[in-house]
Amino acid sequence: MDLVIKGHKSFVQGEISLPGDKSISHRALLIGALPKGKYRITNFPFSEDCISTLNAMKALGVKIYENHENIELVTPGYRGFNSYVDSIDCGNSGTTARLITGLLCGANIQTKLLGDTSLSKRPMDRVIGPLKDMGGNIGSIEGKLPLSINKSIHGALKGIDYNMLVDSAQVKSSILIAGYMAEGITKVTERNYSRNHTELLFKFLGAGLLVQDKVINIKNSEMHCRDLNIPGDISSAAFIIALTILIPKSSITINNLLLNKRRKRYIEILKLMGADIEYQVTGEECGEAIGSLQVKSSELKPIIIEEEDIPNIIDEIPVFSILASFCSGVSIIKGVNELKYKESNRISCILSNLSTCDINCSYTDNNLYIEGKEDFINKDITIETFGDHRIAMAFAVLASRNKGETKILDWDCTKISFPNSEKYFRMFLNF
Ligand code: S3P
Repeated sequence: MDLVIKGHKSFVQGEISLPGDKSISHRALLIGALPKGKYRITNFPFSEDCISTLNAMKALGVKIYENHENIELVTPGYRGFNSYVDSIDCGNSGTTARLITGLLCGANIQTKLLGDTSLSKRPMDRVIGPLKDMGGNIGSIEGKLPLSINKSIHGALKGIDYNMLVDSAQVKSSILIAGYMAEGITKVTERNYSRNHTELLFKFLGAGLLVQDKVINIKNSEMHCRDLNIPGDISSAAFIIALTILIPKSSITINNLLLNKRRKRYIEILKLMGADIEYQVTGEECGEAIGSLQVKSSELKPIIIEEEDIPNIIDEIPVFSILASFCSGVSIIKGVNELKYKESNRISCILSNLSTCDINCSYTDNNLYIEGKEDFINKDITIETFGDHRIAMAFAVLASRNKGETKILDWDCTKISFPNSEKYFRMFLNF
Protein backbone atom coordinates (compact mmCIF):
# COMPACT_ATOMS: atom_id res chain seq x y z
CA MET A 1 0.00 0.00 0.00
CA ASP A 2 1.17 3.51 -0.81
CA LEU A 3 0.61 6.36 1.65
CA VAL A 4 -0.46 9.81 0.49
CA ILE A 5 0.36 12.48 3.07
CA LYS A 6 -1.14 15.98 2.94
CA GLY A 7 0.93 18.04 5.35
CA HIS A 8 0.95 17.97 9.13
CA LYS A 9 -1.54 18.36 11.99
CA SER A 10 -1.64 21.91 13.37
CA PHE A 11 0.35 21.17 16.53
CA VAL A 12 0.99 17.95 18.38
CA GLN A 13 1.20 17.36 22.10
CA GLY A 14 1.12 14.16 24.08
CA GLU A 15 2.79 11.32 25.85
CA ILE A 16 3.58 7.97 24.22
CA SER A 17 5.58 4.80 24.62
CA LEU A 18 6.88 2.70 21.76
CA PRO A 19 7.17 -0.97 20.77
CA GLY A 20 10.32 -2.70 22.02
CA ASP A 21 13.75 -2.01 20.54
CA LYS A 22 14.48 -4.19 17.51
CA SER A 23 18.17 -4.82 18.24
CA ILE A 24 17.51 -5.85 21.84
CA SER A 25 14.54 -8.03 20.84
CA HIS A 26 16.62 -10.08 18.39
CA ARG A 27 19.18 -10.62 21.14
CA ALA A 28 16.51 -11.42 23.75
CA LEU A 29 15.59 -14.38 21.54
CA LEU A 30 19.01 -15.43 20.25
CA ILE A 31 21.09 -14.94 23.40
CA GLY A 32 18.26 -15.22 25.94
CA ALA A 33 17.54 -18.78 24.78
CA LEU A 34 21.14 -20.05 25.01
CA PRO A 35 20.81 -21.29 28.63
CA LYS A 36 18.26 -24.00 29.36
CA GLY A 37 15.08 -22.82 31.12
CA LYS A 38 11.97 -20.65 30.92
CA TYR A 39 11.60 -16.90 30.58
CA ARG A 40 9.26 -14.16 29.38
CA ILE A 41 9.87 -11.33 26.97
CA THR A 42 7.55 -8.36 27.44
CA ASN A 43 7.02 -5.40 25.07
CA PHE A 44 8.23 -7.63 22.24
CA PRO A 45 7.70 -5.86 18.88
CA PHE A 46 5.91 -8.10 16.40
CA SER A 47 7.73 -6.45 13.50
CA GLU A 48 8.60 -8.60 10.48
CA ASP A 49 12.32 -8.63 11.31
CA CYS A 50 11.74 -9.77 14.89
CA ILE A 51 9.23 -12.37 13.71
CA SER A 52 11.97 -13.80 11.45
CA THR A 53 14.16 -14.37 14.51
CA LEU A 54 11.20 -15.69 16.51
CA ASN A 55 10.42 -18.29 13.80
CA ALA A 56 14.08 -19.25 13.57
CA MET A 57 14.17 -19.98 17.31
CA LYS A 58 11.01 -22.08 17.01
CA ALA A 59 12.72 -24.10 14.26
CA LEU A 60 15.66 -24.72 16.61
CA GLY A 61 13.28 -26.25 19.17
CA VAL A 62 12.45 -23.35 21.47
CA LYS A 63 8.77 -23.46 22.51
CA ILE A 64 7.29 -19.98 22.19
CA TYR A 65 3.83 -18.97 23.40
CA GLU A 66 2.65 -15.61 22.11
CA ASN A 67 0.21 -13.31 23.87
CA HIS A 68 0.00 -9.82 22.32
CA GLU A 69 3.32 -8.05 23.04
CA ASN A 70 4.38 -10.67 25.54
CA ILE A 71 5.90 -14.07 24.86
CA GLU A 72 6.81 -17.02 27.04
CA LEU A 73 9.70 -19.23 26.07
CA VAL A 74 10.77 -22.69 27.11
CA THR A 75 14.23 -23.33 25.76
CA PRO A 76 16.27 -26.54 25.75
CA GLY A 77 19.44 -24.37 25.77
CA TYR A 78 21.96 -24.38 22.94
CA ARG A 79 23.15 -27.90 23.70
CA GLY A 80 19.57 -29.14 23.20
CA PHE A 81 18.71 -27.23 19.99
CA ASN A 82 17.68 -29.38 16.99
CA SER A 83 20.94 -30.35 15.31
CA TYR A 84 19.37 -30.46 11.84
CA VAL A 85 16.90 -27.89 10.54
CA ASP A 86 15.84 -27.99 6.89
CA SER A 87 16.05 -24.23 6.34
CA ILE A 88 15.76 -20.93 8.19
CA ASP A 89 14.26 -17.92 6.41
CA CYS A 90 15.66 -14.60 7.66
CA GLY A 91 13.29 -12.56 5.47
CA ASN A 92 14.59 -8.99 5.21
CA SER A 93 16.52 -9.08 8.47
CA GLY A 94 20.29 -8.60 8.35
CA THR A 95 20.50 -8.85 12.15
CA THR A 96 18.79 -12.26 12.11
CA ALA A 97 21.07 -13.52 9.32
CA ARG A 98 24.39 -12.30 10.79
CA LEU A 99 23.70 -13.17 14.43
CA ILE A 100 22.14 -16.55 13.80
CA THR A 101 25.04 -17.61 11.59
CA GLY A 102 27.24 -17.27 14.69
CA LEU A 103 24.72 -19.18 16.79
CA LEU A 104 24.32 -22.01 14.24
CA CYS A 105 28.09 -22.48 13.88
CA GLY A 106 28.62 -22.29 17.64
CA ALA A 107 25.88 -24.81 18.41
CA ASN A 108 27.00 -27.04 15.49
CA ILE A 109 23.65 -27.06 13.68
CA GLN A 110 23.20 -28.07 10.07
CA THR A 111 20.81 -25.94 7.99
CA LYS A 112 20.35 -23.63 5.02
CA LEU A 113 19.98 -19.91 5.62
CA LEU A 114 17.68 -18.00 3.26
CA GLY A 115 16.60 -14.40 2.83
CA ASP A 116 14.46 -12.15 0.62
CA THR A 117 15.82 -10.46 -2.52
CA SER A 118 17.24 -7.49 -0.62
CA LEU A 119 18.94 -9.58 2.08
CA SER A 120 20.34 -11.98 -0.53
CA LYS A 121 22.29 -9.07 -2.04
CA ARG A 122 23.86 -8.02 1.27
CA PRO A 123 27.37 -9.08 2.32
CA MET A 124 27.65 -12.10 4.61
CA ASP A 125 31.40 -12.58 4.04
CA ARG A 126 32.03 -10.21 6.95
CA VAL A 127 30.76 -12.94 9.33
CA ILE A 128 31.70 -15.98 7.23
CA GLY A 129 35.44 -15.10 7.38
CA PRO A 130 35.87 -14.94 11.17
CA LEU A 131 33.44 -17.83 11.79
CA LYS A 132 35.42 -20.03 9.39
CA ASP A 133 38.59 -19.02 11.26
CA MET A 134 36.93 -20.44 14.38
CA GLY A 135 36.19 -23.73 12.59
CA GLY A 136 32.71 -22.93 11.26
CA ASN A 137 31.73 -24.90 8.17
CA ILE A 138 29.83 -22.46 5.93
CA GLY A 139 29.20 -22.68 2.19
CA SER A 140 28.12 -19.69 0.07
CA ILE A 141 28.38 -18.25 -3.41
CA GLU A 142 30.25 -14.95 -3.34
CA GLY A 143 29.63 -14.52 0.39
CA LYS A 144 25.88 -13.96 0.03
CA LEU A 145 22.73 -15.83 1.10
CA PRO A 146 21.69 -18.58 0.71
CA LEU A 147 24.28 -20.09 3.05
CA SER A 148 24.69 -23.77 3.75
CA ILE A 149 25.76 -24.29 7.33
CA ASN A 150 27.22 -27.69 8.03
CA LYS A 151 28.52 -29.44 11.09
CA SER A 152 32.01 -28.39 11.98
CA ILE A 153 34.60 -31.03 11.02
CA HIS A 154 36.52 -30.64 14.29
CA GLY A 155 33.54 -30.48 16.68
CA ALA A 156 33.41 -27.36 18.87
CA LEU A 157 34.62 -24.04 17.48
CA LYS A 158 37.87 -22.54 18.79
CA GLY A 159 38.06 -19.04 20.23
CA ILE A 160 39.83 -16.39 18.12
CA ASP A 161 41.50 -13.05 18.52
CA TYR A 162 39.73 -10.89 15.94
CA ASN A 163 40.29 -7.29 14.88
CA MET A 164 37.15 -5.91 13.29
CA LEU A 165 37.49 -4.94 9.61
CA VAL A 166 34.13 -3.13 9.42
CA ASP A 167 32.34 -1.10 12.10
CA SER A 168 29.41 -3.44 12.59
CA ALA A 169 27.58 -4.52 15.74
CA GLN A 170 26.11 -7.41 13.76
CA VAL A 171 29.55 -8.80 12.93
CA LYS A 172 30.83 -8.24 16.47
CA SER A 173 27.73 -9.96 17.90
CA SER A 174 27.93 -12.92 15.54
CA ILE A 175 31.51 -13.62 16.65
CA LEU A 176 30.70 -13.11 20.35
CA ILE A 177 27.72 -15.48 20.18
CA ALA A 178 29.85 -18.15 18.46
CA GLY A 179 32.66 -17.35 20.92
CA TYR A 180 30.38 -18.01 23.88
CA MET A 181 29.93 -21.62 22.69
CA ALA A 182 33.56 -22.08 21.55
CA GLU A 183 36.52 -23.60 23.37
CA GLY A 184 38.86 -21.04 24.93
CA ILE A 185 38.59 -17.28 24.87
CA THR A 186 37.29 -15.18 21.99
CA LYS A 187 38.62 -11.65 21.82
CA VAL A 188 37.10 -9.02 19.53
CA THR A 189 38.67 -5.58 19.07
CA GLU A 190 36.51 -2.84 17.55
CA ARG A 191 37.85 -0.04 15.32
CA ASN A 192 35.09 2.37 16.38
CA TYR A 193 32.49 1.74 19.08
CA SER A 194 29.28 0.15 17.79
CA ARG A 195 26.05 -0.66 19.65
CA ASN A 196 26.77 -2.87 22.66
CA HIS A 197 23.50 -4.72 23.36
CA THR A 198 25.13 -8.13 22.92
CA GLU A 199 27.74 -7.39 25.58
CA LEU A 200 25.14 -5.95 27.98
CA LEU A 201 22.75 -8.90 27.59
CA PHE A 202 25.46 -11.54 28.00
CA LYS A 203 26.51 -9.77 31.21
CA PHE A 204 22.89 -9.47 32.40
CA LEU A 205 22.48 -13.25 31.99
CA GLY A 206 25.68 -13.89 33.93
CA ALA A 207 28.16 -14.80 31.18
CA GLY A 208 31.93 -14.47 31.59
CA LEU A 209 32.39 -11.40 29.42
CA LEU A 210 34.91 -8.66 29.94
CA VAL A 211 34.92 -5.30 28.16
CA GLN A 212 37.91 -2.95 28.22
CA ASP A 213 37.44 0.03 25.92
CA LYS A 214 37.21 -1.44 22.42
CA VAL A 215 38.29 -4.96 23.43
CA ILE A 216 35.73 -7.61 24.38
CA ASN A 217 36.60 -11.05 25.76
CA ILE A 218 34.07 -13.84 26.07
CA LYS A 219 34.34 -17.44 27.18
CA ASN A 220 31.96 -20.30 27.81
CA SER A 221 30.37 -19.87 31.23
CA GLU A 222 27.11 -20.61 33.00
CA MET A 223 24.17 -18.34 32.19
CA HIS A 224 20.60 -18.35 33.48
CA CYS A 225 17.36 -17.45 31.73
CA ARG A 226 15.91 -14.16 32.97
CA ASP A 227 12.70 -12.32 32.14
CA LEU A 228 13.38 -9.53 29.69
CA ASN A 229 11.28 -6.37 29.40
CA ILE A 230 12.26 -4.67 26.15
CA PRO A 231 12.76 -0.87 26.32
CA GLY A 232 11.04 1.30 23.66
CA ASP A 233 12.88 1.44 20.34
CA ILE A 234 15.09 4.52 20.12
CA SER A 235 15.40 4.14 16.33
CA SER A 236 11.60 4.32 15.98
CA ALA A 237 11.64 7.27 18.40
CA ALA A 238 14.06 8.99 16.00
CA PHE A 239 11.15 9.61 13.56
CA ILE A 240 8.82 10.86 16.31
CA ILE A 241 11.52 13.19 17.61
CA ALA A 242 12.18 14.55 14.11
CA LEU A 243 8.46 15.17 13.45
CA THR A 244 8.09 17.00 16.78
CA ILE A 245 11.09 19.19 15.98
CA LEU A 246 9.73 20.11 12.55
CA ILE A 247 6.08 20.78 13.45
CA PRO A 248 5.67 24.20 15.18
CA LYS A 249 4.32 24.42 18.75
CA SER A 250 4.63 20.68 19.31
CA SER A 251 5.84 18.83 22.35
CA ILE A 252 6.00 15.08 22.98
CA THR A 253 7.10 12.94 25.91
CA ILE A 254 8.32 9.41 25.18
CA ASN A 255 8.29 7.07 28.19
CA ASN A 256 10.02 3.71 28.73
CA LEU A 257 12.57 4.61 26.07
CA LEU A 258 15.93 2.90 25.55
CA LEU A 259 18.63 5.39 26.57
CA ASN A 260 21.69 3.25 25.86
CA LYS A 261 24.74 5.52 25.85
CA ARG A 262 25.80 4.60 22.33
CA ARG A 263 22.35 4.46 20.74
CA LYS A 264 21.43 7.93 22.06
CA ARG A 265 24.19 9.54 20.04
CA TYR A 266 21.50 10.71 17.54
CA ILE A 267 19.82 12.63 20.37
CA GLU A 268 23.12 14.19 21.48
CA ILE A 269 23.84 15.30 17.92
CA LEU A 270 20.39 16.89 17.61
CA LYS A 271 20.98 18.72 20.91
CA LEU A 272 24.27 20.05 19.49
CA MET A 273 22.23 21.33 16.53
CA GLY A 274 19.97 23.22 18.93
CA ALA A 275 17.10 20.76 19.41
CA ASP A 276 15.01 21.28 22.54
CA ILE A 277 15.34 17.77 24.00
CA GLU A 278 15.65 16.63 27.60
CA TYR A 279 15.77 13.13 28.99
CA GLN A 280 16.11 11.42 32.36
CA VAL A 281 17.44 7.92 32.93
CA THR A 282 15.04 6.37 35.44
CA GLY A 283 16.12 2.75 35.62
CA GLU A 284 17.40 -0.35 33.86
CA GLU A 285 15.88 -3.19 31.85
CA CYS A 286 17.85 -6.09 30.34
CA GLY A 287 21.03 -4.39 31.63
CA GLU A 288 20.15 -1.30 29.54
CA ALA A 289 19.44 2.29 30.67
CA ILE A 290 15.83 3.39 30.19
CA GLY A 291 13.98 6.61 30.88
CA SER A 292 11.77 9.30 29.45
CA LEU A 293 12.45 12.00 26.91
CA GLN A 294 10.77 15.32 26.18
CA VAL A 295 11.16 16.98 22.80
CA LYS A 296 9.74 20.28 21.55
CA SER A 297 9.64 21.98 18.15
CA SER A 298 13.00 23.60 17.54
CA GLU A 299 15.07 25.43 14.97
CA LEU A 300 18.24 23.53 14.09
CA LYS A 301 21.70 24.61 12.95
CA PRO A 302 23.71 22.55 10.45
CA ILE A 303 26.42 20.23 11.75
CA ILE A 304 29.43 18.14 10.73
CA ILE A 305 29.24 14.51 11.91
CA GLU A 306 32.53 12.62 12.19
CA GLU A 307 33.10 9.06 10.94
CA GLU A 308 33.53 7.61 14.45
CA ASP A 309 29.89 8.50 15.22
CA ILE A 310 28.49 6.64 12.23
CA PRO A 311 28.15 3.09 13.69
CA ASN A 312 25.96 4.41 16.50
CA ILE A 313 23.68 6.55 14.31
CA ILE A 314 23.77 4.31 11.25
CA ASP A 315 20.01 3.62 11.22
CA GLU A 316 19.17 7.27 11.92
CA ILE A 317 21.05 8.76 8.96
CA PRO A 318 18.03 8.68 6.60
CA VAL A 319 15.88 10.68 9.05
CA PHE A 320 18.85 12.84 10.01
CA SER A 321 19.26 13.76 6.34
CA ILE A 322 15.68 15.07 6.40
CA LEU A 323 16.35 17.24 9.46
CA ALA A 324 19.52 18.54 7.80
CA SER A 325 17.39 19.50 4.77
CA PHE A 326 15.38 21.97 6.84
CA CYS A 327 18.06 23.99 8.64
CA SER A 328 19.80 26.64 6.58
CA GLY A 329 23.40 25.77 5.75
CA VAL A 330 25.40 22.72 4.75
CA SER A 331 25.57 19.62 6.99
CA ILE A 332 28.25 17.02 6.34
CA ILE A 333 27.99 13.39 7.42
CA LYS A 334 31.43 11.83 7.10
CA GLY A 335 32.32 8.20 6.37
CA VAL A 336 28.90 6.88 5.37
CA ASN A 337 30.04 4.06 3.06
CA GLU A 338 28.33 1.33 5.15
CA LEU A 339 24.95 2.82 4.18
CA LYS A 340 25.38 1.20 0.77
CA TYR A 341 24.98 -2.24 2.35
CA LYS A 342 21.71 -1.73 4.20
CA GLU A 343 18.18 -2.85 3.23
CA SER A 344 18.70 -0.67 0.15
CA ASN A 345 21.65 1.40 -1.00
CA ARG A 346 20.64 4.18 1.37
CA ILE A 347 23.10 6.69 -0.06
CA SER A 348 21.55 6.57 -3.51
CA CYS A 349 18.00 6.45 -2.04
CA ILE A 350 18.64 9.57 0.05
CA LEU A 351 20.26 11.42 -2.86
CA SER A 352 17.61 10.58 -5.44
CA ASN A 353 14.64 11.30 -3.18
CA LEU A 354 16.09 14.55 -1.80
CA SER A 355 16.80 15.68 -5.37
CA THR A 356 13.15 14.98 -6.25
CA CYS A 357 12.33 17.38 -3.40
CA ASP A 358 14.72 20.03 -4.81
CA ILE A 359 17.12 19.70 -1.86
CA ASN A 360 20.77 20.09 -2.92
CA CYS A 361 22.80 17.11 -1.80
CA SER A 362 25.85 15.16 -2.96
CA TYR A 363 28.12 12.25 -2.05
CA THR A 364 31.87 12.59 -2.51
CA ASP A 365 34.90 10.98 -0.82
CA ASN A 366 32.64 8.87 1.38
CA ASN A 367 30.90 11.98 2.78
CA LEU A 368 27.29 13.05 2.41
CA TYR A 369 26.64 16.81 1.94
CA ILE A 370 23.17 18.25 2.44
CA GLU A 371 22.33 21.90 1.86
CA GLY A 372 19.37 22.71 4.06
CA LYS A 373 16.82 25.50 3.63
CA GLU A 374 14.14 26.83 5.93
CA ASP A 375 11.37 27.09 3.30
CA PHE A 376 8.67 24.52 2.84
CA ILE A 377 8.61 22.35 -0.28
CA ASN A 378 5.53 23.09 -2.33
CA LYS A 379 4.89 20.35 -4.86
CA ASP A 380 3.40 16.91 -5.27
CA ILE A 381 6.15 14.33 -4.76
CA THR A 382 6.44 10.56 -5.12
CA ILE A 383 9.03 8.85 -2.90
CA GLU A 384 10.64 5.61 -4.10
CA THR A 385 11.31 3.54 -0.99
CA PHE A 386 12.87 0.44 -2.62
CA GLY A 387 11.12 -1.57 0.10
CA ASP A 388 13.36 0.07 2.72
CA HIS A 389 11.44 0.78 5.95
CA ARG A 390 13.73 3.55 7.19
CA ILE A 391 13.64 5.40 3.84
CA ALA A 392 9.83 5.24 3.89
CA MET A 393 9.58 6.65 7.44
CA ALA A 394 12.30 9.29 6.90
CA PHE A 395 10.45 10.72 3.91
CA ALA A 396 7.14 10.61 5.79
CA VAL A 397 8.91 13.02 8.16
CA LEU A 398 9.79 15.19 5.17
CA ALA A 399 6.08 15.28 4.26
CA SER A 400 5.56 17.53 7.32
CA ARG A 401 7.47 20.23 5.39
CA ASN A 402 5.69 19.78 2.07
CA LYS A 403 2.65 21.92 1.24
CA GLY A 404 1.87 19.59 -1.65
CA GLU A 405 1.06 15.86 -1.47
CA THR A 406 3.79 13.38 -0.58
CA LYS A 407 3.18 9.87 -1.82
CA ILE A 408 5.31 7.21 -0.13
CA LEU A 409 5.42 4.07 -2.28
CA ASP A 410 5.14 0.72 -0.49
CA TRP A 411 4.48 2.18 2.97
CA ASP A 412 3.78 -1.38 4.16
CA CYS A 413 7.54 -1.99 4.30
CA THR A 414 7.52 -0.01 7.59
CA LYS A 415 6.20 -3.19 9.23
CA ILE A 416 9.74 -4.51 8.98
CA SER A 417 10.79 -2.53 12.05
CA PHE A 418 7.83 -0.50 13.35
CA PRO A 419 4.61 -2.36 14.19
CA ASN A 420 1.57 -0.03 14.03
CA SER A 421 3.67 2.70 12.43
CA GLU A 422 0.52 4.33 11.04
CA LYS A 423 -0.93 4.91 14.49
CA TYR A 424 2.14 6.94 15.48
CA PHE A 425 2.61 8.84 12.21
CA ARG A 426 -1.11 9.73 12.15
CA MET A 427 -0.58 11.73 15.36
CA PHE A 428 1.53 14.14 13.31
CA LEU A 429 0.52 13.88 9.65
CA ASN A 430 -2.68 14.11 7.59
CA PHE A 431 -3.41 10.90 5.68
C1 S3P B 1 22.13 -3.76 14.19
C2 S3P B 1 23.29 -3.20 13.75
C3 S3P B 1 23.40 -2.29 12.62
C4 S3P B 1 22.04 -1.73 12.21
C5 S3P B 1 20.97 -2.77 12.21
C6 S3P B 1 20.84 -3.43 13.56
C7 S3P B 1 22.17 -4.70 15.33
O1 S3P B 1 23.99 -2.97 11.54
O2 S3P B 1 22.11 -1.11 10.95
O3 S3P B 1 19.72 -2.21 11.86
O4 S3P B 1 21.10 -4.97 15.90
O5 S3P B 1 23.27 -5.17 15.65
P1 S3P B 1 25.60 -3.04 11.40
O6 S3P B 1 26.10 -3.33 12.74
O7 S3P B 1 25.90 -4.13 10.45
O8 S3P B 1 26.00 -1.70 10.89
